[in-house]
Amino acid sequence: MGALYIFSWILLLGMVFYQGASDPVEDKQALLDFVNNLRHSRSLNWNVSTAVCGNWTGVTCSQDCSRIIAVRLPGIGLHGPIPPNTISRLSALQILSLRSNGISGNFPSDFPNLKNLSFLYLQYNNFSGPLSVDFSVWKNLTIVNLSNNGFNGSIPTSLSNLTHLQGLNLANNSFSGEIPDLSLPSLQQINLSNNNLSGSIPKSLRRFPPSVFDGNNISPESSPRASPIPAPIDRPHPLKPRSAGKLGETALLGIIVAACVLGIVAFAFLIIVCCLRRTREDEFSRKLQKGEMSPEKVVSRSQDANNRLFFFEGCTYAFDLEDLLRASAEVLGKGTFGIAYKAVLEDATTVVVKRLKEVSAGKRDFEQQMEVVGSIRHENVVELKAYYYSKDEKLMVYDFYSQGSLSAMLHGKRGDDRVPLDWDARMKIAIGAARGIERIHMESGGKFVHGNVKSSNVFLNSQQLGCVSDAGLATIMSPLAPPISRAAGYRAPEVTDTRKATQPSDVYSFGVVLLELLTGKSPIHTTGGDEIVHLVRWVHSVVREEWTAEVFDVELLRYPNIEEEMVEMLQIALACVMRMPDQRPKMPDLVKMIENVRRIDPENRASSGNRSGSSTPPPPPPPPPAEVTDREPKSEAS
Ligand SMILES: *[C@@H]1O[C@H](CO)[C@@H](O)[C@H](O)[C@H]1NC(C)=O
Ligand SMILES: *[C@@H]1O[C@H](CO)[C@@H](O)[C@H](O)[C@H]1NC(C)=O
Ligand SMILES: *[C@@H]1O[C@H](CO)[C@@H](O)[C@H](O)[C@H]1NC(C)=O
Ligand SMILES: *[C@@H]1O[C@H](CO)[C@@H](O)[C@H](O)[C@H]1NC(C)=O
Ligand SMILES: *[C@@H]1O[C@H](CO)[C@@H](O)[C@H](O)[C@H]1NC(C)=O
Ligand SMILES: *[C@@H]1O[C@H](CO)[C@@H](O)[C@H](O)[C@H]1NC(C)=O
Ligand SMILES: *[C@@H]1O[C@H](CO)[C@@H](O)[C@H](O)[C@H]1NC(C)=O
Ligand SMILES: *[C@@H]1O[C@H](CO)[C@@H](O)[C@H](O)[C@H]1NC(C)=O
Ligand SMILES: *[C@@H]1O[C@H](CO)[C@@H](O)[C@H](O)[C@H]1NC(C)=O
Ligand SMILES: *[C@@H]1O[C@H](CO)[C@@H](O)[C@H](O)[C@H]1NC(C)=O
Ligand SMILES: *[C@@H]1O[C@H](CO)[C@@H](O)[C@H](O)[C@H]1NC(C)=O
Repeated sequence: MGALYIFSWILLLGMVFYQGASDPVEDKQALLDFVNNLRHSRSLNWNVSTAVCGNWTGVTCSQDCSRIIAVRLPGIGLHGPIPPNTISRLSALQILSLRSNGISGNFPSDFPNLKNLSFLYLQYNNFSGPLSVDFSVWKNLTIVNLSNNGFNGSIPTSLSNLTHLQGLNLANNSFSGEIPDLSLPSLQQINLSNNNLSGSIPKSLRRFPPSVFDGNNISPESSPRASPIPAPIDRPHPLKPRSAGKLGETALLGIIVAACVLGIVAFAFLIIVCCLRRTREDEFSRKLQKGEMSPEKVVSRSQDANNRLFFFEGCTYAFDLEDLLRASAEVLGKGTFGIAYKAVLEDATTVVVKRLKEVSAGKRDFEQQMEVVGSIRHENVVELKAYYYSKDEKLMVYDFYSQGSLSAMLHGKRGDDRVPLDWDARMKIAIGAARGIERIHMESGGKFVHGNVKSSNVFLNSQQLGCVSDAGLATIMSPLAPPISRAAGYRAPEVTDTRKATQPSDVYSFGVVLLELLTGKSPIHTTGGDEIVHLVRWVHSVVREEWTAEVFDVELLRYPNIEEEMVEMLQIALACVMRMPDQRPKMPDLVKMIENVRRIDPENRASSGNRSGSSTPPPPPPPPPAEVTDREPKSEAS
C-alpha cells in the first residue's frame, strides 16, 4: 500500500517536473514520430536530447513553451505520405507549413484533430485523392493553400462554413464538379485556376478577377470573359498573389491581342487593369528593394521539383526560395560575378544571396563545383549554405557577416567616426585569410583554385580572423565576361593573357590584399590628377627608392613597435606578387611565414608589446579576445 503510494507520488512528481521543465514532451514525441517515419533528404537538427523550443529548426512553441504552435518545414525534401497519428497529435498547432516537399498520399484524415489550425500551407507537394475531411471543424482556419498538388474530387462545401477564411488557393490540382457557393465575406483571395471544374461561377465569387478561374471547363455564358486569353507557353508560376501583377511579356502581349479583338472598350478597360497591375508590381519590387532582383523569372521556375534551393548537409536554415524572394533585400554590392544582396527572412535570419551573371557552366558542372565548394568546412572559409540553379537564375546563399568586408573596412569612408583597423586586427585578418585560401587549395586533390581573391571577399569570423568567400566561382563563369574593372588590380600578369586563374595567381591576388592591409590603399586608385595607379606598381616604385614608411598606411603609424613586423609583412607581400608564377610562395609556406611574423593564437597574442601606451588619439579599441570561440552569432542559428 505504502509502496504504491510512493510509486504514484513519484509518477506525479515526474509529471510536475515535466511541466516545469517547459519542454512539450508529448508534442516533441509526436514530431519525432513524424520525422522518423517520413523520408527527408535534408537533415534536421531535431536531436532527442536537446530542448525543442528555441533549438529545433522550423518549430515554434507557445510563449510558455508548453505546446508547439507552429511547424514550418518548407523544402526539407520530405517524401512519402504523412504518417498517421503524428502531426495530428500537436493539438495546439496553429500554423502548419509543409509546402514545397514531395509529400504524397491523401489529405491526412486525422488533421481535423488540429482544432486550432489557422494557417495551412501544403502547396507544391504530391498529395492526391479527394478532400474528404469536414473543413467546418477548423473554426479558425484563415489561409488554406493546397495548390500544385494532385487533389481531385469536388471542392468540399464545408469550406463555406469557415467564417475566418481569408485565402483559399486550390490552383493546379484536378478538382472537378461545380464550384461551391462560398459566401464568405472574409475571403480576400481565391485561386481555383487549372483544375477541371465545371458549371458556372457562383454569384458570391464573381467579385474576384476572372483569371482565378482560368484553366477550367466553366461554361462560357457565365464566364465573365468572352474570348479565352492565349496562354503563354512558359507561363510564370500561377499562384503567387505577390507576383500576380507580374505577368510575363508574352502574357501581356496575349492580353493586348485579345483586347484588340474585343474592341476599344475592352482595351480601355485593360489599360486600367494594367495601371492597377503596375501599382502592385511596384509594391512587390519595393519589398525586394532596389528593383534589381527581378523576382518573376526566378519564381517562374522556382517550384519546378528539380529547381529547388539546394541546401548543404548540416545547414540549419529552414526556408525555401519563396521565403527568400519574400525577404527584404538590400544590395550589398556588385561584384565580379554578379550582385550580392543582404536578405532578411521572415524569421529574422539574415543571409547573403549572390545572384550570378554570365554563368557558362551547365547544370551538371555547376552542381559539381557547388558540391566541392559546399563541402569545405573551415573556420576561415565562408560557408556556402545553399545554391539554386535554373536556366535563368543562379543563386548562392552564404552566411551574413555583419561587420562587412575587409574592403569596406579599409577603403570605406575615412571620416572622423571611422574606427581604424589597428595592426593587430590586420595581422589577424591576414593570417585567417591565408589559412582559408590554404584550405581551399587543398580541395580536389590539392588542385582547387579560388579564382577571385580580393579584399571584398574577405570577412571577419567570430574570432576576428580573416575568412574567405566566393571560392571556385571563376571556373564556372564565362571566361569571356569582362571582369576588367574590379578584379583588375588583383589579377596576376599571366592571367591577363590566359584568363585562367591558378593557385599561383591566387597567391598573387592574396599578395595584393596584403598590400592593401599594409598601405590602406585600393588595388587601383587615382592620385591627385586622373592618373590611375596600380597598387603593386606603386609599392614597387616606392620600395625601389628605399625602405620607407611612406608605403605604410598613415593609420598604422600611430602604433609604436610594429615597424619591424610591417616590413616583414611587406616582404612577404612582395614575394606573393612576383612576376613569375613559380617564384611565388605556396599557400602552406605563406601561412607559416605570416605566422612567424606574429603568432596569432590564444596563449601568445600581442607578442609585439604593448601599444596602448600611445598617446595619439584615438586609441584603437582592443580586438575581442581570441579565446572567445563562439560561433558567428548572426549567421548560424543552430
Ligand atoms: C544530440 O546532442 C547531444 C549533446 O547535446 C550529442 O551528444 C549527440 O551526439 C546529438 N545526437 C545527434 C544524433 O546529433
Ligand atoms: C537550446 O536553446 C537554448 C536557448 O534557446 C540554449 O540555452 C540551450 O543551450 C540549447 N540547448 C541545446 C542542448 O542546444
Ligand atoms: C486553442 O486556442 C485557444 C485560444 O488561443 C486556447 O485557449 C486553447 O487552449 C487552444 N487549444 C489547444 C488545444 O491548445
Ligand atoms: C483563433 O485565432 C485567433 C487569432 O487568429 C485567436 O485570437 C483565437 O484565440 C483563435 N481561436 C481559437 C479557438 O483557436
Ligand atoms: C508524384 O506521385 C506520382 C504518382 O502518384 C509519381 O509518379 C511522381 O513521381 C511523384 N512526384 C514526385 C515529385 O514525387
Ligand atoms: C502543376 O502541378 C503538378 C504537380 O501536381 C506539376 O507537375 C506541374 O508542373 C504544375 N504545373 C504548373 C503550371 O504549375
Ligand atoms: C481521384 O484520383 C484517384 C487516383 O489518385 C482515382 O482513383 C479516383 O478515381 C479519382 N477520383 C475522382 C473523383 O476523379
Ligand atoms: C456548417 O455548419 C452547420 C452547423 O454549424 C452545419 O449544420 C452544416 O452542415 C455545416 N455545413 C457544411 C457544409 O458542413
Ligand atoms: C497560398 O495561398 C494563400 C491564399 O491565397 C496566399 O496568401 C499565399 O501567398 C499562397 N502561396 C502561394 C505560394 O501561392
Ligand atoms: C474533367 O472532367 C470531365 C467531366 O466533367 C471528365 O470527362 C474528364 O476526364 C476530366 N478530365 C480530367 C483531366 O480529369
Ligand atoms: C491564379 O492563378 C493563375 C494561374 O494559375 C494566375 O494567372 C492568376 O494570376 C492567379 N490569380 C490570383 C489572384 O492569384
